[in-house]
Amino acid sequence: MRILIIGSGGREHALAWALRHVEAQFIAPGNPGTQQFGENIPIPVSDLNGIVTFSRNENIDLVVVGPEVPLSEGLADALQEARIPCFGPSSAAAEIESSKVFAKTFMQRNGIPTAQWKSFQSGQFKDARAYAQTLGKCVVKASGLAAGKGAIMCKSIRDSENALTELMIDESLGDAGKHVVIEEWMEGEEASMFIVTDGEDYQLLESAQDHKRLMDNDHGPNTGGMGAYAPAPVMTNKLIDRARKEIVEPVLEKMASEGRIYSGCLYIGLMITDQGPKVVEFNCRFGDPEAQVVLPLIDGDPAEILLCAAKGGIGNLRFTQQTKSAACVVLSSEGYPGTYEKGKVISGLKEASEVTGSLIFHAGTTHDGNNVLTAGGRVLGVTAIGSTLPEAIHHAYKAVDLIEFEGKHFRYDIGSRALNLG
Ligand code: AMP
Ligand code: GLY
Repeated sequence: MRILIIGSGGREHALAWALRHVEAQFIAPGNPGTQQFGENIPIPVSDLNGIVTFSRNENIDLVVVGPEVPLSEGLADALQEARIPCFGPSSAAAEIESSKVFAKTFMQRNGIPTAQWKSFQSGQFKDARAYAQTLGKCVVKASGLAAGKGAIMCKSIRDSENALTELMIDESLGDAGKHVVIEEWMEGEEASMFIVTDGEDYQLLESAQDHKRLMDNDHGPNTGGMGAYAPAPVMTNKLIDRARKEIVEPVLEKMASEGRIYSGCLYIGLMITDQGPKVVEFNCRFGDPEAQVVLPLIDGDPAEILLCAAKGGIGNLRFTQQTKSAACVVLSSEGYPGTYEKGKVISGLKEASEVTGSLIFHAGTTHDGNNVLTAGGRVLGVTAIGSTLPEAIHHAYKAVDLIEFEGKHFRYDIGSRALNLG
């Protein structure tokens, strides 16, 4: 099989690793880590025509799309028109992530459990403020894609007024935030489910938990994710069965019956509330860093699984999950998610890769011929697989200690919530 992976982060390095046994692999544009498993091609993820042309010329059997933006812009549709199998949903189906207003109305009309909510357009600032006041503690969200910066947690009426002013009046997130969703603040433990589907049947991958805040004990600003682990012990078999019946199956069925057949990876962010699992958000792709812990736990041929999702037949595949656990600690540049410096020399990568069970995934790196250098906010995903979660966490931190660069930042408490729960 000849595969083209789209993207350049830790998730795409993890995909390249998971698909390393295929006949040929290309990554557009990739990073210094993905080069270990294939050829990096300098096509930006926004160049949809360039991706289709390359795929046609290189007889690509499967395009695997990492990030949400090209999906929401119609990459899967363009590939489908060219009859090239694509892992990832159409632009219409990707609206489940790219428009929170669509996702919430879809859940409402189909009885899928989620937080109570209302949406407001620009010009409805006063109504929005009044609704937020009725909720008290609430979450104010930009409806459009905002690279993980679109949800503002508001503990008080003053917080929600500030958040609404930022999004609707100051337009801090541009068009993405002109239309807002205000929702009830749900209490509970969070977990993420990863569904790989061809639109008809589906397979569940391991559940995971992400650590969105920058600092230990969930302090500091939200980020794209500072670490993750899988499986998430909070997702017991009973809860998984309930989520399948109340959320996963109705979502896939109703998306299809509304003419938006969903294929690819459906990432469901859940809050496990007193009343059961409720949807926090949908994403139309693998999570990052969650992919770095979920993909290594697949016990089966990931290339076959992704191809079946793209072409059909996933219901006939039988694969079991490994009984192992994985933990990923993200190393970021000082200053992230705000401004940060780039070009710092990274040392210790080889030593870290020799730690038992470790997989060092590149996210924001580059190289200058001699050295690997930092080139982004999230620099590396230091992952380890272990027979238990404590073992995976221990090995991941052992590898973290061996890697150095100026301004290296990471959380010390990845997975600690799961250890406490267990
Ligand atoms: P989102 O942009 O919808 O993915 O939200 C980002 C993060 O904000 C989630 O992972 C949760 O930690 C938190 N969050 C979002 N919505 C809610 C909610 N209704 N109640 C509690 N936490 C939420
Ligand atoms: N880590 C969160 C996300 O990928 O959306």
